[in-house]
Amino acid sequence: MNKPNIAIMTSGGDVPGLNAAIRAAVRTAAYYQYKIVGIEKGYEGLIDDAFIPLHSGSVSNIINKGGTFLQSSRSERFKDEKYRKVAYQNLKKNNIEHLILIGGDGSMKGAQVLASESGINVIGIPKTIDNDISGTDFSIGFDTATNIAMEAIDRIRDTATSHHRLFFVEVMGRNAGYIALEVGIATGAEGIIIPETHRDLQLLYENIEHKKNWKNSSYIVVVAEGDEIGGAYHLEKTIQQKYPDIYTGVSILGHIQRGGSPSCRDRTLATKLGIAAVEAIQSEKRNVMAGIIHEKIQYTPLEQIANRSLDINENTIKILKILSK
Ligand code: F6P
Repeated sequence: MNKPNIAIMTSGGDVPGLNAAIRAAVRTAAYYQYKIVGIEKGYEGLIDDAFIPLHSGSVSNIINKGGTFLQSSRSERFKDEKYRKVAYQNLKKNNIEHLILIGGDGSMKGAQVLASESGINVIGIPKTIDNDISGTDFSIGFDTATNIAMEAIDRIRDTATSHHRLFFVEVMGRNAGYIALEVGIATGAEGIIIPETHRDLQLLYENIEHKKNWKNSSYIVVVAEGDEIGGAYHLEKTIQQKYPDIYTGVSILGHIQRGGSPSCRDRTLATKLGIAAVEAIQSEKRNVMAGIIHEKIQYTPLEQIANRSLDINENTIKILKILSK
């Protein structure tokens, strides 16, 4: 008996590890004898009928590559019912019964709509460097992004130390502080400014006072782009007014954090989730997202997937206080 066809696509911002997930899903599909096709440019390609056949050979030598060879998009058109209808017709025309969607929480919302309106089974795989998606401990891309940011900040620290300077380094994360907190701890930052702690400038002032007269002192303040303080440049102005004698600088890491070869951890996470997505289809699961919670594959219904924010508890605050002085 012929097995139903699977389609796979990547949606939203690219992250390192997408190719590893596609590769794993394509090869697992081949293993279970499903036909699998790729959809280029995410929801946009769904609307434009950009379906391409895939086989094990199509995904050779991509596990180490950043970006997504299927390309991606943040689709405005898919929000419009008129275009969604076209997308559903294309899925039917290409005989697709299951769609593997690699995306963040916004894309998963789109997936719920797609599943309920079209009857297609959608299996999600979580990716975002921001790590702000529920249903998994870590999303694909977070580990690489934090390692890139860490390396960049270590370099900035050399200049900061050599010239006794204070650098504000802005990292991505949209409205969440996962990247900033992780990277701030890993680089021994004197200040970590994240949306979840609501402007904890007092701690930063204390640290500046504490180290001001040390001979080889330097300061790194990691600022999450989503903090209500208004970004690294804004914070620099505030500090310049309070400490006019300290030489300051700003560095915005931006999209550097999203590119490049995925880390070992992201490659293995993506591979496990790519396999889990096809195995969900094989075991007749419907409309779930595959994640890893406490080191085990867990399937969460798509309607329960949401944006999540960093849990800042007393212990985290204590860690920050102890380590920054
Ligand atoms: O969600 C990932 C992310 O990189 C955020 O950290 C950032 O705010 C946003 O995407 C940037 O989006 P774009 O690439 O569309 O500018």
